[in-house]
Amino acid sequence: MNNCRRIDPETLKQVANLAAQYKGREDMLVEVLGQVQKIACNSVPEEVISVISKEMGIPKAKVYSVATFYAFFSVQKRGKYVIRMCKSAPCHIKGAQEVLAAMEKFLGIKVGETTYDGKFTLETCECLGICDRSPAIMINDEVFGPLKPEDIEDLISKFE
Ligand code: FES
Repeated sequence: MNNCRRIDPETLKQVANLAAQYKGREDMLVEVLGQVQKIACNSVPEEVISVISKEMGIPKAKVYSVATFYAFFSVQKRGKYVIRMCKSAPCHIKGAQEVLAAMEKFLGIKVGETTYDGKFTLETCECLGICDRSPAIMINDEVFGPLKPEDIEDLISKFE
């Protein structure tokens, strides 16, 4: 995966190959969207939806409605790494706001934004299911916690 300033042709080809395996399988659409999101910069933007629609033989409007129904999918372009800060009560009480502020400062973006180089997107989410490690974050599929604001620079710098 590149740094996600745009979805490159090679990635679109991978999306097409994947979606083509499920031609006519509307029941597999959520599964396909999940797999596609992993290879297409953590998102299913317009051009990706078009490819899925064509290869699976499912109307674009249907693919779009499923992609926008589930909070886990994003039709907005995201970065190579999506950082999700848990904002539920246990993490909040243990200082999630301060950790979030440290990430915003280090990355130079606010929640909901993506860094200029397409590398990181910062989001908040509900409980990640690891409250014993609060305050916790998830970076793509990996979880981290408990975190302190001073941990952020070292942690995020490890992601290339
Ligand atoms: S409340 Fe944050 S992981 Fe559960």
